[in-house]
Amino acid sequence: MADEAEVFANRLVWVHSRTGKQGTIFQSRVLGADDQTLVIAQPYRQGRIVVYNAGQTVILRMQDPEAEEGPGPEYPVQVLERRLRPLPSLVLTLTPDLARALRGQSERYAKVVAITSGKGGVGKTTLTVNLGIALAQAGVKTAIIDADLGLANVDVMMKIDAPYNLNHLINGERTLREIVLEGPHGLRVVPGGSGLSELANLNEWQFGRLVASLTELERDAEMILIDTGAGLSRNVTNFFLAADEVVVVTNPEPPATLDAYGVMKVVGEQGRRHGVKLVVNRAQNPNEASLVAEKLAETAKRFLGIEVTYLGPVLEDQMVVSAVKRQKPLLVHYNASVAGQGIKRLARQLQPSPEAELQAGGERLGFFQRLRQLFANP
Ligand SMILES: Nc1ncnc2c1ncn2[C@@H]1O[C@H](COP(=O)(O)OP(=O)(O)OP(=O)(O)O)[C@@H](O)[C@H]1O
Ligand SMILES: [Mg+2]
Repeated sequence: MADEAEVFANRLVWVHSRTGKQGTIFQSRVLGADDQTLVIAQPYRQGRIVVYNAGQTVILRMQDPEAEEGPGPEYPVQVLERRLRPLPSLVLTLTPDLARALRGQSERYAKVVAITSGKGGVGKTTLTVNLGIALAQAGVKTAIIDADLGLANVDVMMKIDAPYNLNHLINGERTLREIVLEGPHGLRVVPGGSGLSELANLNEWQFGRLVASLTELERDAEMILIDTGAGLSRNVTNFFLAADEVVVVTNPEPPATLDAYGVMKVVGEQGRRHGVKLVVNRAQNPNEASLVAEKLAETAKRFLGIEVTYLGPVLEDQMVVSAVKRQKPLLVHYNASVAGQGIKRLARQLQPSPEAELQAGGERLGFFQRLRQLFANP
């Protein structure tokens, strides 16, 4: 099962010798696996080997015991052998449930949704921030990434200070943990800086660092929403291609719908036929929004051959304007507003369903790895 070894490789694990929380817990890493054994790096304590003897039972965990969500289940395994070469390592029994847990961890990636528009100023950032809050409130582990260089940035809209951004991560000055901000209900916010607008100019090392860190986020979250910014630069279009779903935002005015159609055209030309969703923002009433959506979806089907799913309307609401002005997120301070209710309905539709997760299983790459391939092979 060589491929299995590859899937498991580099997973972080934690080891301790007794059940429960007593005793010191050591971090280690999976080095390899076959049908019945798992090889992990020898744990160290202050530069000294932590001695586990052959025959001894140790407890293995998949999750950082210090993590907020708790230490996760315990997997008792037997130490079969200690090895010094090629690396100091421990050979352990690989029980079926441990294999399942490792496999589950390695294959699960967040559902990634790119939020975009043709025309600027139609409500992408408002939508990204508040969908993120709605999802987090509903208990979905959600992160939002600000890839837009527009005026009202995600951090500004939530009035949270962003001392660092993806540029610092790309340049090796900060880690992901250091740049991520916490929003309402545990929503995680990744400030983009100019980092994601210059992906095409990154060198191998910088791109590698970005992908490694964001893949970590992708494994940990259930949903990632990306505010892509407007327009059709390759930076933005590569996000469409790599994402699981693309949400195109428009308002009911013809210049906006025309540009929304322009985005759908590019999506279609790239060979994407599914997972294109539409939101009509700032409509006077649901009827107006439905008419706009129907027309757009029909035209996209007829001329571009793509299936566009209408997610629903967000109505014109002065509360949105107040919220933006006062830098108070709509769904925190104006939770019951008409627009807020609309966004909550959209959030319910975007939530990852268990069936979709099953379908998405297998050996697929994560979003950021796909993104890297797209930039490497234009
Ligand atoms: N449903 C709504 N009702 C009333 N006003 C709205 C609504 N949605 C957005 N707005 C207004 O539109 C403005 C622009 O919204 P937002 O910044 O979210 O757009 P954007 O698409 O992210 O813009 P950009 O392309 O510049 O990044 C907001 O500041 C707000 O005043
Ligand atoms: Mg914006």
